[in-house]
Amino acid sequence: MIYDIFVSLGLGILTYIAYFYFKYFTRSNPIPGPIPLPFIGNQFQLSEDISLFCRECQKNYGDIWEFYVGHPSDKTRGIGIEMEGYWKKLYGDEHNELDLSEWLSRLYTDNIFHITANKKVYAIMERISNETLTEPLTDEAIIGNFMETTAGGIDSITSSTCFISYFMAKYPEVKKRVFEEIDSKFTRDQKLTCEELNQLPYCDAVIREISRMHPIAELNYRVNAQEEILNGYVIPAETQIYIHQYGINMHKAHWTNPEEFNPDRFLNNRENSLNLTFGGGIRMCPGRNLAMMELKAYMVLMYRKYDFELVDKNAPLKTHYSIIRACDELKVRVKPRVF
Ligand code: HEM
Repeated sequence: MIYDIFVSLGLGILTYIAYFYFKYFTRSNPIPGPIPLPFIGNQFQLSEDISLFCRECQKNYGDIWEFYVGHPSDKTRGIGIEMEGYWKKLYGDEHNELDLSEWLSRLYTDNIFHITANKKVYAIMERISNETLTEPLTDEAIIGNFMETTAGGIDSITSSTCFISYFMAKYPEVKKRVFEEIDSKFTRDQKLTCEELNQLPYCDAVIREISRMHPIAELNYRVNAQEEILNGYVIPAETQIYIHQYGINMHKAHWTNPEEFNPDRFLNNRENSLNLTFGGGIRMCPGRNLAMMELKAYMVLMYRKYDFELVDKNAPLKTHYSIIRACDELKVRVKPRVF
């Protein structure tokens, strides 16, 4: 009896594997990419640094490749549909008046916690049952939201600023031009205004060039609502699309000598069109103007008085990639500038 169960189970698994590879190798639209395993796809190949995996894939399979990691996240739409189901419960069939502001506030409360922390806080349910919130925010939900804020507004800027200091120390001729621009516009103790910070074309170009070579968000993600054709490949609707910004930023077809650190490429809008530092479209980074102001303010406030040199001039940048490319450590020696 036990023997029969094992045999059936084994046969079932073998059939599934054969079916899986039959479907894979006869798929109508074979985009190149690493061969997936049944059940787990290519998940096992994704190292902690997913950007490195993408660089490897670009090398092996070209600009468009395919890998299998499960179903795309559909939290926003999923919760929308679920919430829609509560209309009737809340207001009945006949009565169609509601306080939209209250409804939306509850909807978005549930939405944002579900998206950021994978937890619902049942703000809508509270309205339906007229009871007080029975489920307090969990530690996980609080941490999830905190992570979102830190990854969005703190870690990104911290790492960008470290990369600026690193490149400035590595390229004295670039630093000299930054000093000249800052010194021509600001005294040592002058207060800064946004208008003045907006008139630093060379600092701006330095930030953009560093962001090209060291993008904070090396990967960006989208799910296509409808079927698309990309480079001749049919991409079915609801596919998770990874946009590998690093691969685009270092692509010879788009940049002159992409390996070369050359802020001048961003002066006078040359080679500027592909800059996806802050993403694109309606989900583009909402903090982008603040970020550029913070970075330029840092450059002016620090470099008008001080200079930074690397403690170890030959050490490479220490980074790791999770949601963003984060700088793990940058040891510098601070010196007052000599005028
Ligand atoms: C150098 C600094 C920064 C870089 C490179 C950066 C980059 C990005 C990128 C690439 C995205 C994804 C955009 C897309 O999907 O098209 C993003 C999203 C986001 N960023 Fe930033 N960011 C920076 C600073 C900031 C700051 C200072 C804040 C907030 C104060 C912030 C808040 C956010 C938020 C909330 C999102 C998610 C937007 C959404 O999903 O709709 N970021 N950022």
